[in-house]
Amino acid sequence: MKGVENCLDKDFYFGYATAAVQIEGAWNVDDKGLSIWDKFSHLPNKIKDDTNVDETAEAYKFYKEDVQLLKSYGANAYRFSIAWSRIIPLGGRNDPVNAKGIEFYSNLIDELLANGITPFVTLFHWDTPQALEDRYNSFLNKEEFVADFCNYAKVCYEAFGDRVKHWITFNEPEVYSACAYLAGIFAPGRCSDRSKSSEGNSSTEPLIVSHNMLIAHANAVKIYRTEFQPTQKGTIGITLSGNWAEPWNPNDPRDVSAAERMLVFDIARFADPVFKSGDYPPEVRDQMGDRLPTFTPEESALVLGSSDFYGMNTYTAFYIKHKDTPADDTDTKGNVVYEETNWEGKPRGPKSATDWLCTTPWAFRKLLNWIYARYKYPIYLTEQGTTAPGETAPTEDVLNDTFRIDYYTSYVESLALAVKEDGVVVKSYLAWSLLDNWEWANGFTDRFGVTFVDFSSPEKTRYPKKSAYVLKELFQNLIKNE
Ligand code: BG6
Repeated sequence: MKGVENCLDKDFYFGYATAAVQIEGAWNVDDKGLSIWDKFSHLPNKIKDDTNVDETAEAYKFYKEDVQLLKSYGANAYRFSIAWSRIIPLGGRNDPVNAKGIEFYSNLIDELLANGITPFVTLFHWDTPQALEDRYNSFLNKEEFVADFCNYAKVCYEAFGDRVKHWITFNEPEVYSACAYLAGIFAPGRCSDRSKSSEGNSSTEPLIVSHNMLIAHANAVKIYRTEFQPTQKGTIGITLSGNWAEPWNPNDPRDVSAAERMLVFDIARFADPVFKSGDYPPEVRDQMGDRLPTFTPEESALVLGSSDFYGMNTYTAFYIKHKDTPADDTDTKGNVVYEETNWEGKPRGPKSATDWLCTTPWAFRKLLNWIYARYKYPIYLTEQGTTAPGETAPTEDVLNDTFRIDYYTSYVESLALAVKEDGVVVKSYLAWSLLDNWEWANGFTDRFGVTFVDFSSPEKTRYPKKSAYVLKELFQNLIKNE
């Protein structure tokens, strides 16, 4: 990579991201309570390979080994999520706190710090305690959920805030609300399709859930800012998902505005309330009407500015075409059509092993610019990565993962150009993911790791892939050393 050497500041964070459900295993160890995934993953026909989360990479047991991997990969940061049901097994504000759960994360944090790795902690990466789902339908009950989430967040700030200086409240409200409450493919699996779920309403619930998530986020941030930030001096924010929308035919103004509309529905619907206006974008309100909840003036004031940084997860891009028919009442994407090739038949990019994911580095730079121009907040890249075709065994070929190497090399170059030539402020690059993990609806069929995990071995043997060392070298060249 020529011409971009040393373009990232000395305090830039490079490392990896994971989530508790996807790597920890140990679902019932040390008094952990059940999360919604412990139940959902055991239901028939929900997970592609019929696996569940009882046993995964077992990071609960092998976390010290994983910290050594991070170190050998040159990481100076690690984003992991806390399983709420380990800290408060029944989840609620009047339920007991589990000292063993606190101890586990405390040990992990100490181990990271002792090895020079800065922890980035996500409080919620999709694993609501099952007890809160059973008691009051979790996110669907705003008052109860906000109070319980704030209590859990406070327990975490108190226990870990002396050492954790980077907090992320929620991971990807858009993906979670759409997959769990619209498509019904993530726990708790609610949707209007009665062949998939006996409960749920796909036209309203995803919007209620993501609305309540923003309010829970803002309240948890307020607590941190008033009670903890003055002494603990950390930062706190939210991580949003978003993939680039490229007009299917750039010469057709209808496709150009469809692509922009998709970005507004997918990204600005969550980011505008937090970073720009305290409310949803007008075009979203126009299409969704009364289905979209409203913020009270107090909520709006609380949500606006409730993030110290823009947490960004992005993986790919789509060609977006306009639609001639009116939007239906479950649409959350701005009434557009997703296409695999553009009007000239050009594909999005090399295809990974995951149906929605292609290598599109050209789009990453555009998206960084779009987000930075609209919000002007420093960006923390908190997830990016890919699966690769044919990764089933730790053979020499698989470990020499050229597909993933090409993905990361080209995306990191786009990042460097966005910083150096376009002036976008980016403060971290946390790749997804450290380990092959349990990939939600796809189970173990999709491997996102820079480390191959042999799930059939009792020790869940880890085999580094070459991409880990390529990434290490890329960032050694990009980050200034003084
Ligand atoms: C992100 C999530 O949306 O994408 C991760 O934050 C997830 O947890 C990753 O593993 C890949 O997504 P999927 O839908 O292919 O499992």
